Amino acid sequence: QAASSLQEVFEPSSSSVYEENADINWDELGFSLRPTDYMYIMKCSKDENFSQGELNRYGNIELSPSSGVLNYGQGLFEGLKAYRRVDGGILLFRPEENARRMKMGAERMCMPSPSINQFVNAVKETVVANKRWVPPPGKGSLYLRPLLIGSGPVLGLAPAPDYTFLIYASPVANYFKEGFAPLSLVIDDEFHRSTPGGTGHVKTISNYAPVLKPQSQAKNRGFSDVLYLDSSKKKYLEEVSSCNIFLVKGNSILTPATQGTILAGITRKSIIDLARDFGYQVEERQIPVEDLIDAEEVFCTGTAVVVAPVGSVTYQGKRFEYNTGAGTVSKKLYSTLTGIQTGLSEDKMGWTVEI
Ligand code: COI
Repeated sequence: QAASSLQEVFEPSSSSVYEENADINWDELGFSLRPTDYMYIMKCSKDENFSQGELNRYGNIELSPSSGVLNYGQGLFEGLKAYRRVDGGILLFRPEENARRMKMGAERMCMPSPSINQFVNAVKETVVANKRWVPPPGKGSLYLRPLLIGSGPVLGLAPAPDYTFLIYASPVANYFKEGFAPLSLVIDDEFHRSTPGGTGHVKTISNYAPVLKPQSQAKNRGFSDVLYLDSSKKKYLEEVSSCNIFLVKGNSILTPATQGTILAGITRKSIIDLARDFGYQVEERQIPVEDLIDAEEVFCTGTAVVVAPVGSVTYQGKRFEYNTGAGTVSKKLYSTLTGIQTGLSEDKMGWTVEI
């Protein structure tokens, strides 16, 4: 089993390398906020470029009650992780990809954005300042949450006059309470995550609060999360509340094409490359809901989620079940990806950035 074998590989290492670690019980991490020491803050005005940021002690920030983000949701977020290598070093996974996605999203949301270098350097500074919170190998990762918000005041609907780029960090482990146990998803006929011409492809904060209601209804019914269909035809698979979706059929791996309504996940993109490298034929296309019927495996991907196997999908009262046993494609992809992220496997793709 991939998760436990990774654990075993990590276990024998000398603890002395990690003496700098914070004194907490690393076995109790889930995916909830554990405040760390520092956050990074950089500000600029509309029509300016970001220039100089700084580290501050982690804490509350002051915002105008009429700030663009509080009133009109003018904000983006990102998520990326720093991993502790067995030799004590720290690796980031594809931080330039997050920087690029934030730049693209900022353009859609009428905000200035940090340059790729500013973004990546700010992430590195945040990790170094909080390095005692990067979990020991095998215990999780330090999740970095960059935010870009309209922080200046507006009353009429318009882009805010001032912007804040901020990064905070929290050590995390598994996203779902299920851990690596299979998820049970439900397709919701009533709610949709995004619409054509909207912002589904952008990591705007306003894509996430609207899924809280369908997500909590699903949880109350005993499901792990919701799998959304497209809003025009109500026929094609889109994504789960916090992650992308993949189906396995023989040598083919299918995932919905990112055509404006689906978030172009960085883990999604990495899994597509790894799967192709393994010889699978990956199809990015529209996937009708009927494709769930004869899929052998289904799994989710995301920065927070990593790779999570799906045990069942329920649609209009019918429950489709999937293979989640040993030797599955999702387990193989999970251990390959996490091997690269944690520095245990060779990084042939050049995805990791050492701090
Ligand atoms: C991530 O995977 O990093 C995300 O941003 C999803 C979030 C809803 C936890």
